[in-house]
Amino acid sequence: PAPSDVTATPGARGRPRPQRLTVFSCPPGALSAPASCRCRRCCRTMAFVTRQFVRSVSSSSTASASVKKIIVKHVTVIGGGLMGSGIAQVAAATGHTVVLVDQTEDILAKSKKGIEESLRKVAKKKFAEDPKAGDEFVAKTLSSITTSTDAASVVHSTDLVVEAIVENLQLKNELFKRLDKFAAEHTIFASNTSSLQITSIANATTRQDQFAGLHFFNPVPMMKLVEVIKTPMTSQKTFESLVDFTKTLGKHPVSCKDTPGFIVNRLLVPYLMEAIRLYERDFQMCGNSNLGLGSSLKGDASKEDIDTAMKLGAGYPMGPFELLDYVGLDTTKFIIDGWHEIDAKNSLFQPSPSLNKLVTENKLGKKTGEGFYKYK
Ligand SMILES: NC(=O)c1ccc[n+]([C@@H]2O[C@H](COP(=O)([O-])OP(=O)(O)OC[C@H]3O[C@@H](n4cnc5c(N)ncnc54)[C@H](O)[C@@H]3O)[C@@H](O)[C@H]2O)c1
Repeated sequence: PAPSDVTATPGARGRPRPQRLTVFSCPPGALSAPASCRCRRCCRTMAFVTRQFVRSVSSSSTASASVKKIIVKHVTVIGGGLMGSGIAQVAAATGHTVVLVDQTEDILAKSKKGIEESLRKVAKKKFAEDPKAGDEFVAKTLSSITTSTDAASVVHSTDLVVEAIVENLQLKNELFKRLDKFAAEHTIFASNTSSLQITSIANATTRQDQFAGLHFFNPVPMMKLVEVIKTPMTSQKTFESLVDFTKTLGKHPVSCKDTPGFIVNRLLVPYLMEAIRLYERDFQMCGNSNLGLGSSLKGDASKEDIDTAMKLGAGYPMGPFELLDYVGLDTTKFIIDGWHEIDAKNSLFQPSPSLNKLVTENKLGKKTGEGFYKYK
């Protein structure tokens, strides 16, 4: 599809340069080479200067109210796991064309099967009175999703890349560095990371102004919220384009700076960790009526009672241990370890022995059949 930004320059950036440019023909360190010089150093410098100029012009124009936003029509989702599949599904169901990328055809086949099942559930509810319209909705949505195992080959004309691969900074950096060379000039990059700093991912690219966080929630088709994360380099145009995009998905955007955990996880993860600490604390005799007077118990309260208390007392739909198991204990451990590394003195960011033990034993929650609770 054609780029939807009228100001976009068509064509891939960083296209491999012709071989004849491999020699340096101007004097090394020359500040002003002849305009006719086509050596690699001069071309690279000129390309950089031109890009910076275009950027500075476009960023100064973003200060005005008439910012020309990117209207996202074509989305490339990288990572067909839990989150990527959900993002692809919602984008396709709301009229976008989507390419879903993952490492193998097998994974992609599973992702598409999962999307189809999820769409059928949506259709059953949405078109309860008209099953034929429901079937059409499923077929139309699925036909808007194509798949690929080669991200670089599909980003040349995409408006937006949403990355939802594994939570690993090095892998994310490698991916974006590569895509930066192949994506169209106007393409916005976004990461769905839960815990990594967006700025440190954006820095792997030359388009820091066109880079932001788009943090969806699990399960994506159900959860209304998207956190749109603005780094100090994210342009207003990029930010506003992403806010508009999330609205076209039927989601509710909130904005946040590039701060650990953004809004939801910054409040939620310390709460989950505090629930574990409540359960971990060592004491012996418990007079809890559910357990019978004098029951011997490790912790200030049992995990079952903590879950019940938060559901019935705080009105939460799930208790903290149910939620921990649902999210995956490895995910929570990864987040808290990362924050502890950044700020070891923060009492909210302290690791937990029982969480670490369960993860070491590969008891990761629902997905492995056991976490704080057993599911088999
Ligand atoms: N699970 C959640 O509740 C949740 C919520 C919000 C955000 N996130 C974030 O979303 C991202 C993905 O999480 P998930 O739970 O969907 O993970 P997941 O493990 O379910 O899926 C990750 C997918 O990425 C694929 N992948 C890995 N490297 C790749 C590469 N180089 N190119 C293409 N595909 C690659 C894997 O094959 C896998 O299918 C993470 O950054 C995570 O922090 C997760």
